[in-house]
Amino acid sequence: MYSIIKNVLFRFDPELDHRVVEFCLRHIAPLPIVSDWMASQFCYLDEALGVEVEGLKFANPVGLAAGFDKNATMIEGLSLMGFGFVELGSITLTPQSGNPKPRIFRFVQEESLQNAMGFNNDGSRMIAQRIAKLYPYRNPLVINLGKNKDATDALKNYEENLKVFKELGDAYVFNISSPNTPNLRDLQNEQFVKELFVMAREHTQKPLFVKICPDNAIDATLRVCESALSGGASGIIATNTTTDYSLLQNPKEIGGISGKALRNKSREVFYEISKEFFGKATLISSGGIFDGEEAYSRIKMGASLVEIYSALIFEGPSVCKRVNKDLQILLRADGFKNISEAIGVDIK
Ligand SMILES: Cc1cc2nc3c(=O)[nH]c(=O)nc-3n(C[C@H](O)[C@H](O)[C@H](O)COP(=O)(O)O)c2cc1C
Repeated sequence: MYSIIKNVLFRFDPELDHRVVEFCLRHIAPLPIVSDWMASQFCYLDEALGVEVEGLKFANPVGLAAGFDKNATMIEGLSLMGFGFVELGSITLTPQSGNPKPRIFRFVQEESLQNAMGFNNDGSRMIAQRIAKLYPYRNPLVINLGKNKDATDALKNYEENLKVFKELGDAYVFNISSPNTPNLRDLQNEQFVKELFVMAREHTQKPLFVKICPDNAIDATLRVCESALSGGASGIIATNTTTDYSLLQNPKEIGGISGKALRNKSREVFYEISKEFFGKATLISSGGIFDGEEAYSRIKMGASLVEIYSALIFEGPSVCKRVNKDLQILLRADGFKNISEAIGVDIK
């Protein structure tokens, strides 16, 4: 069914499609008959998939990565698509229109995307008002915080942003790894990251994560992660998109690549991070996860949770159910009663 819908959707500009999907998830999905149908169609419930991470209860370990619901308008619709959690944002303190269009490109053969969105979003205050209407929510809500492009004091900008959401999220991610805000990735240095988490810990005891890029030397990446943890971070999300354009045949010269082209790179970086930090920090894996097997391998590699984005575009709304169903089969085949038993078995 989705292959037919995809044939139509993929004829249009990705951002136009996104607006149509957003309209449906925002306004149509929550209608009673539709939400019942969506839950029956897309949600997969099994106790074996339930997991507690950082004191938060997840019905399943598969979350929607940041960037899809930048404005927190689709929380209910996305939950009805079966996600165990949704990462909202990246949200900046003040609204931004993002980079000039076109800024998102599909690579159908490679099942990959390249985006240079640049944190287009409604800004923290408007988004906080939206979240306040739902919060506390039945699934954990993770708030991904970005930096305003024109902010000269990055620390202050993140701090003001965090303060807006202090009472409105279950966990926070500091995104310092988007390739689409000039110099943002330079913040992946030990000193800044330490200051960032020390600052954040002054405001909240909730789980805090750093999201890192897959493109830096692994030693430097590990040092940045170490610094984040010593500053008070609870864990690491690895990875964001890559700027390694050699991974696509005819890449654009802007933005970051996600999807299958990112899979190996992201998995390798995650593995290195896990070797160093598994057992000391909560690890979340993002990058090129399209199926239960890949999700399971990341979990066994040390991920407490996994996140997907591009797979939703290429595989459609039942992707989460399929991943969860396959995860449950793989768990059972390995004799695990619950997903938590599988976390990190390949690392220990
Ligand atoms: C169009 C698009 C926009 C994104 N925007 C954000 C963002 O605002 N903040 C962020 O932390 N990651 C963002 N990402 C990265 C995703 O959260 C994810 O880490 C990345 O796409 C790798 O996962 P995937 O291969 O499953 O897509 C974006 C990705 C895409 C494709």
